Amino acid sequence: MPEQINSDVLIIGSGAAGLTLALQLADQCQVHILSKASLDEGCTLYAQGGVAAVLDEQDSLASHVTDTLDAGAGLCHPEVVEYVVSHSRPAIQALIERGVPFTREAGSDSPFHLTREGGHSHRRVIHAADATGKAIETTLLGMARQHPNIQMFEHHIAIDLISHVKLGLPDENRIIGAYVLDRQADQVQVFHAPFVVLASGGASKVYLYTSNPDLSTGDGIAMAWRAGCRIANMEFNQFHPTCLYHPEAKSFLITEAIRGEGGLLKLPDGKRFMDRFDSRGELAPRDIVARAIDHEMKRLGAECLYLDISHKPADFIIEHFPTVYARCKELGIDITREPIPVVPAAHYTCGGVMSDLHGRTDLPGLYAIGEVSHTGLHGANRMASNSLLECLVFGEAAAQDILSQHQTTRPTTPIPAWDESRVTDSDEEVVVAHNWDELRRFMWDYVGIVRTDKRLQRAKRRVDLLQSEIHEYYSNFRVSNDLLELRNLVVVADLIIRSAMARKESRGLHYTLDYPLLDNSGPPQDTILVPWQD
Ligand code: FAD
Ligand code: SIN
Repeated sequence: MPEQINSDVLIIGSGAAGLTLALQLADQCQVHILSKASLDEGCTLYAQGGVAAVLDEQDSLASHVTDTLDAGAGLCHPEVVEYVVSHSRPAIQALIERGVPFTREAGSDSPFHLTREGGHSHRRVIHAADATGKAIETTLLGMARQHPNIQMFEHHIAIDLISHVKLGLPDENRIIGAYVLDRQADQVQVFHAPFVVLASGGASKVYLYTSNPDLSTGDGIAMAWRAGCRIANMEFNQFHPTCLYHPEAKSFLITEAIRGEGGLLKLPDGKRFMDRFDSRGELAPRDIVARAIDHEMKRLGAECLYLDISHKPADFIIEHFPTVYARCKELGIDITREPIPVVPAAHYTCGGVMSDLHGRTDLPGLYAIGEVSHTGLHGANRMASNSLLECLVFGEAAAQDILSQHQTTRPTTPIPAWDESRVTDSDEEVVVAHNWDELRRFMWDYVGIVRTDKRLQRAKRRVDLLQSEIHEYYSNFRVSNDLLELRNLVVVADLIIRSAMARKESRGLHYTLDYPLLDNSGPPQDTILVPWQD
């Protein structure tokens, strides 16, 4: 393996955002894509419900914009919402042309079936049954694999970004690559590129219970923070109301589209309860439904509540929700005949690396797209199915921006190899495992769906201690995948706690008993953490 691996563009992440970008660039650039697990693994693969887009004659851009702004509780950036929504139709058209097998609608004006989810006032979610993410991921990955200008490196975890400042160079600061651990060879390599794109997904693994796969450890957010980028709105962690409650299920989502098609939320005694919390009932936005479930579970001391679609015909359920049906059936639950036990779990990171309409971050050469980014689209609460849309639209926007510059931007700086001269092999792996568990548990208990000042202060004391322990460990021992992820998780946890402490109101996904109301004393503000003031 050469000491320095050069390309025009280095993309960290092979989900919907990274692959969309790579395919847009590859006819004109040499692209390298990293994935820290297998290439297809990531949130994209597990996305169920679909992609929100204005595709129906009865629907309108204005309505999608209004619904997104409503869900975002005053913190969406309207120009970003308008930009994304107005690019929704071409983004879907591109996927159709690439061959994504969206579910078709028999006997209707629209060739594709559109489902409904919370917060949407129209049917506007295009989907591939209940495995939309898998259809998108496998289609885009198949195309990327065949492109001669795209080279993919799986089981390669980026450790840190490399900047002029980090190398002590006097030139204008710029990101020019990344140190990357090849997990199989157990060797750190240098990837060099004039453009580096974070497409590394979210950070929901910071919570004990999550719908996300294991790799959602916020690496991109932590790397960008360490490199000197501002991070916004980390207090807005979305909890999906309905994850399967079963000892063997680990993290399995029950799609919101089930409620969109008439599924009802019920208490253990079979009574409905959502009408007591919101006039939209089961189709209220996610923050409201998750809090209502949490409230009822705590009130009743119940381990879970129930989602019931069994009043619909069995063939309708099996046709629309084959993945959920099959997984529940494996675990002994027949959703055509009985309700599904559900609990809320951490699902989506609304905050992230601040980026503009081109995906550009604070640092020249560095872009952030997809769930890792904070574009201003989601505000204080992401509306269902707007996330995949954001990945597609910003993948395209970043590609245009990079293409407009790449002929004139050439890498010149040699980067020193990774220095391991002062570290040894760990003799205390138990510290890493213990700190992983401790961190995720106190984040769930103290920084979860309902917060208080006291809980946040408790969490802050613990995270400070863990940060110093993990920093010391990182300085002394050779890096491993678990250590790198833990190092990133503790940074993300700290950013979440600090952002939550800074917000003295309840808004969208951030709910605190100490300030249960909106602060209407001035215009709503994003919470922006600034590394150079740290
Ligand atoms: P991901 O798809 O998560 O990919 C992240 C990539 O980054 C992976 O390749 C990973 O290996 C790589 N990576 C991370 N860190 C590193 C590192 N340090 N080094 C190298 N590589 C790294 N949204 C919707 O809009 N509609 C839905 O129906 C929907 N359903 C969902 C269902 C589930 C169960 C979940 C978990 C999420 C769902 N979401 C949905 C949210 C949506 O799937 C994600 O927000 C979106 O897929 C994120 O895509 P991404 O490309 O940003 O990241
Ligand atoms: C779901 O299918 O319920 C998830 C949709 C989303 O997270 O956007």
